Amino acid sequence: MPILVFDLPITKWMLLPILCVMTFKITANEVSEVDDAEQNGRTLYIQKGCYSCHGYEGQGGIISGPKIAPNPLPVDVFITRVRWPVADMPAYSGRVLKDKELLDIYRYLQTVPLPPELNMLSE
Ligand code: HEC
Repeated sequence: MPILVFDLPITKWMLLPILCVMTFKITANEVSEVDDAEQNGRTLYIQKGCYSCHGYEGQGGIISGPKIAPNPLPVDVFITRVRWPVADMPAYSGRVLKDKELLDIYRYLQTVPLPPELNMLSE
């Protein structure tokens, strides 16, 4: 019988590190998934040719294409503009760019940092 009484706290304490490890693993997986999407998005952005008109960071070109990052359009508008462009941009159908790939590109564009404030540059 003393074994049972002794057993209980040990079991509880043994659970704690297991829970900690599990929580850490879940968090780590979420983080790496986001990073994968961003990485994949950057690769696709170049592979699919977006960079050639919109610049490597989505900054846009004088005549080739408008700025699309930082602060990309809301995701539904973004998808519409890529699938059904309004003027000269070639349309990217689901056959050449899957929904998941387009969302990864969007994820990448979301991570493009804002430029520094003008007043910071003059200091
Ligand atoms: C051949 C040049 C070219 C390529 C390649 C290109 N775009 Fe564009 N893009 C444009 C031009 C020009 C516009 C301006 C509107 C139009 O012509 O449809 C535009 C518009 C956009 C817009 C809407 C911007 C706004 O503010 O309305 C988005 C979003 C966009 N492009 C994303 C992409 C993505 C993502 C890719 C790659 C999958 C890509 N573009 C590839 C030329 C290009």
